[in-house]
Amino acid sequence: MHRTLKLVLSATAAAIAAAAAFTAHAQQPPLKVGLMLPYTGTFAALGNAIENGFRLHVAEQGGKLGGREIQFFKVDDESDPSKATDNVNKLIKRDAVDVIVGTVHSGVALAMARAAKESNTLLIVPNAGADAITGAQCAPNIFRSSFSNWQPGYATGVVAAGKGYKRAMTITWNYAAGNETVKGFTEAFEKGGGKVIKDLSLPFPNVEFQALLTEIAAQKPDVVFAFFAGGGAVKFVKDYDAAGLKKTIPLVGSGFLTDGTLEAQGASAQGLITALHYADNIETPRNESFRKAYALAYKANADVYAVQGYDAAQMLNAGLIAVKGDFSKRDALQLAMQKTIVGSPRGKFAISTSRNPVQDFYIREAKGHYNVVTGVAVKQLADPGRGCKS
Ligand code: PHB
Repeated sequence: MHRTLKLVLSATAAAIAAAAAFTAHAQQPPLKVGLMLPYTGTFAALGNAIENGFRLHVAEQGGKLGGREIQFFKVDDESDPSKATDNVNKLIKRDAVDVIVGTVHSGVALAMARAAKESNTLLIVPNAGADAITGAQCAPNIFRSSFSNWQPGYATGVVAAGKGYKRAMTITWNYAAGNETVKGFTEAFEKGGGKVIKDLSLPFPNVEFQALLTEIAAQKPDVVFAFFAGGGAVKFVKDYDAAGLKKTIPLVGSGFLTDGTLEAQGASAQGLITALHYADNIETPRNESFRKAYALAYKANADVYAVQGYDAAQMLNAGLIAVKGDFSKRDALQLAMQKTIVGSPRGKFAISTSRNPVQDFYIREAKGHYNVVTGVAVKQLADPGRGCKS
């Protein structure tokens, strides 16, 4: 063939291919994202903050992630494990979503992880800490932007032992998050020379604390460790104070005890020491710009839940960018999500091989409406990922 003609032909072929690729890209339908979160009940505020955080990052990307428009589907999971499988199947089967973001409650999230694994639906957990999700039940399509229950429990145990307390009592709701957080606390506290003398619990989401507070008063431990969150945390912190215990027995907790709750807790929360992977006043440009944008968009202060929702969107964005928005390239997308370093308002974090954040845990003190950093409890704390084989 004539050389010039050949060049013209190959240039034309390239132009056609480019145009086809462009058209294919332009015609990509929106990516379907299912939000399964609590919009009612004791964790309702947490679910809303997660959704707000997720949407803020999408808005910052011009309404897209990795070049793809996002179409949202929503289910209120009510933090009810007995409805979890039916609820998650509304997103997987009825709505045929590409990605699920959820949820807050560990028991609900465990059922979601099972359904996601069976159907190979990409799942990003923006709060629930159930250890098995990035442990024995781990899978290449299941990620967490938050923490494992073991992590904040362990970090708080380090803080309590470091203060020289010897005898501790624990109190929580009797379900995966409460029990696993207490386990993490106990591991670190006893390694640091303390002893947990008694574990107290009540069913989720009950808030009748009186009998348990009476028992604490009778036992007089050096310190009380509590895991509660949302509406339950508001009531517990107020009741602990009203029972006269705040003045006599120091109360510590994983930071959920005072996160997103300080306005409602008022004076009862002031001075409480907690440990968490976020604090309001982390003085970095990343955190400050995030908090400003969040406050502007939602007329509310950002909290740890907002950060976790925002970072779930950042993780998905990183995966989609790596495959130029082509969600069918799932292996490459998931690999990119695992390898990404997330530029979080909490500080940069890597994602472990079991797909859980490796992150610093801060010591915080409740002051006014803010959880203020007073130090670092544990740097770069990684969940052991026990039992994760894939
Ligand atoms: C959980 O159920 O895993 C859970 C709920 C609320 C929190 C933290 C963990 O703030």
